[in-house]
Amino acid sequence: MNEVRIFAPASIANISCGFDVLGMCLDNVGDEMVIRKSNKKGIQITKIIGQKLPLETSKNVAGVAGLALLDDLGETHGFEIEIYKKIKAGSGIGSSAASSAGAVAGINFLLGNPYTNKELIRFAMEGERLASGTAHADNVAPVLLGGFTLVRDCSTLDIIKLNTPLEIAASVIHPQIEVKTSDARALLKQKVPLKKAITQWGNLGALVSGLYEEDYELISRSLEDVIVEPIRSILIPEFDALKKGCKEAGALGSGISGSGPSVFALSKGIFTAHKVADTMKTIYQKTGIEFDTHVSTLNYEGIKILEYK
Ligand code: HSE
Repeated sequence: MNEVRIFAPASIANISCGFDVLGMCLDNVGDEMVIRKSNKKGIQITKIIGQKLPLETSKNVAGVAGLALLDDLGETHGFEIEIYKKIKAGSGIGSSAASSAGAVAGINFLLGNPYTNKELIRFAMEGERLASGTAHADNVAPVLLGGFTLVRDCSTLDIIKLNTPLEIAASVIHPQIEVKTSDARALLKQKVPLKKAITQWGNLGALVSGLYEEDYELISRSLEDVIVEPIRSILIPEFDALKKGCKEAGALGSGISGSGPSVFALSKGIFTAHKVADTMKTIYQKTGIEFDTHVSTLNYEGIKILEYK
């Protein structure tokens, strides 16, 4: 095999109460990437369509993640990467994670899968380090493993793929404003009052239980973030109106997608998720701010090989 075309999906990190630990993979929102073997050692990013992003390997998340894999393997082959971006950079639905995870999954496939997808997470995290200054795994883990994932510990790759209730669907609105992950992280306080921590870990435990029990009422009650959302939400116009509108339209809950500016809502069933997205649109149409919306079921497999030759 010399060439592979893959679908690198978008993802939602944090999912309200799971800052830096929870994530989930979307199905019909994502980039495509073509990765092919080359005679030139290392990684060359030969084409990026759809976004203005650096082609220079050391400045591109796909390049950096791919090189981390090749360094670990002591691999002398070279690879070319073409990226067809559909996920907007800085949207909060895992644009850098899709490119980083896509690069390592494609290279791994062409090398005959020397690593499992779980093992690839640590290389993809190097792309996240370049993008945000922190090598977090809450986007790359769901992209590489599919469904909902929980990062118990990044350094030892103690990452768990959680049960994913079949009817869960996501609605996302992406206001076209810029919120850099590094800025959104810099806003956060380094200390958390015990009372808030208790509420947060109660919600996180209950959300995980709700996913396994497929208890949509429990999932709904647990989609609450008392630590990060109150601070970051000031960066997102009409955030409170969106939350209220999503709930009224039947969503289980909503919150900031990753570090924003996208806002996500989870619903039971795709029909409700479309209704929730319509409500999001109605609220944002009044602001004059441009936006995109997405509605997606969950992606249980994560990254997909589309074709190879
Ligand atoms: N957990 C990270 C954050 C995700 O919220 O900063 C960034 O995509």
